[in-house]
Amino acid sequence: MNPSLSKFMLAHTPKSILNPTPTMTTSLPLNTGGSIPALGLGTWQSAPGEVKAAVIHAIEAGYRHIDCAHCYQNEDEVGAALKEVFERGIVKREDVFVTSKLWCTDHTRVEEGLDRSLKALGLQYLDLYLMHWPVPMNPNGNHPLFPKLPDGSRDIDHSLTHIQTWQNLEALASSSPSPKVKAIGVANYSVKYLTKLLEKAKIVPAVNQIENHPYLPQQEVVDFCKEKGIHVTAYSPFGSTGSPMMKEEKVQEVAKKHSVGAGTVLLSYHLARGSSVIPKSVTPSRIDENRKLISLDDEDMQKLEALHKEKGVTRFVYPPFGIDLGFSDKPGGMDLSG
Ligand SMILES: NC(=O)c1ccc[n+]([C@@H]2O[C@H](COP(=O)([O-])OP(=O)(O)OC[C@H]3O[C@@H](n4cnc5c(N)ncnc54)[C@H](OP(=O)(O)O)[C@@H]3O)[C@@H](O)[C@H]2O)c1
Repeated sequence: MNPSLSKFMLAHTPKSILNPTPTMTTSLPLNTGGSIPALGLGTWQSAPGEVKAAVIHAIEAGYRHIDCAHCYQNEDEVGAALKEVFERGIVKREDVFVTSKLWCTDHTRVEEGLDRSLKALGLQYLDLYLMHWPVPMNPNGNHPLFPKLPDGSRDIDHSLTHIQTWQNLEALASSSPSPKVKAIGVANYSVKYLTKLLEKAKIVPAVNQIENHPYLPQQEVVDFCKEKGIHVTAYSPFGSTGSPMMKEEKVQEVAKKHSVGAGTVLLSYHLARGSSVIPKSVTPSRIDENRKLISLDDEDMQKLEALHKEKGVTRFVYPPFGIDLGFSDKPGGMDLSG
């Protein structure tokens, strides 16, 4: 086509076609050939007695993606919610994208961990199973989830590396006749850990789920994942419970410009970066409110990006494993990158 004609057509194409407004069910492609809905409901810290109602409300409100984990200790209640929405015919199993995660004390018993989550959730298969952290912990320690050594430090299992755990996950994903997981991925992986993993991986992780928000853009991880065909899912998009991010002046300015709430800006930020996002709420009005997504422009994104430059890195949910997971240049404790 004549270059000046194509320039003319581009200039006159409505913005809504060039940059369509994302919706909660916008499908984002995975390297498996499948896809993941743009918005999911987070369930960490959703208390028993609250999470069932939250999941049912979310599904009724149109959510088609639920983020779970064995470590959240509420998968049985999420399962009860799923059972109810399936039985009431609100959705079919194949219409909901369900993620769960292998906990650190299950690295030596991957299939057992998966089966436990499947049983609690009442499902035959997961859409996505993630290694929750690249940190194997003692499966027979003094606590089933957070074992510690007598000196109070984390009881790390040095008998295997996260790479062996990944290989066990690969075996699960390729088991026949029908694998219990449609896709496998990782969470909390830095560029350093991903690089080590990819050197040995037969299956490239479909997803890297990371803490991600304007205080912690993790641009190097997002860029690396894009280059390797790994989809990024952003967790703690509001900075997790108690974060001041919604009140940030720049977030408020962008919200005012588009006549939306601060939450919409913080969620839409990830869509503009090609990521999916999983806000947690047990409050029906907030579950509803969080469905709203908009297209942010370059000016908005620059404003949000400036937050990190001005305020530096603020990690809200990074657990004190006492090891260097390769997220910072500062020397850490042990290095488990294998
Ligand atoms: N892979 C990992 O290691 C990892 C780690 C952390 C989190 N995650 C996943 O990511 C999900 C989200 O992260 P998160 O739970 O840390 O934090 P988050 O989604 O950033 O924030 C949740 C907090 O924001 C509140 N909230 C929700 N919507 C709101 C709104 N519209 N206005 C004001 N407040 C609102 C919630 O309160 P109410 O519930 O009271 O409404 C809750 O206190 C988790 O639930 C979990 O599924 C994964």
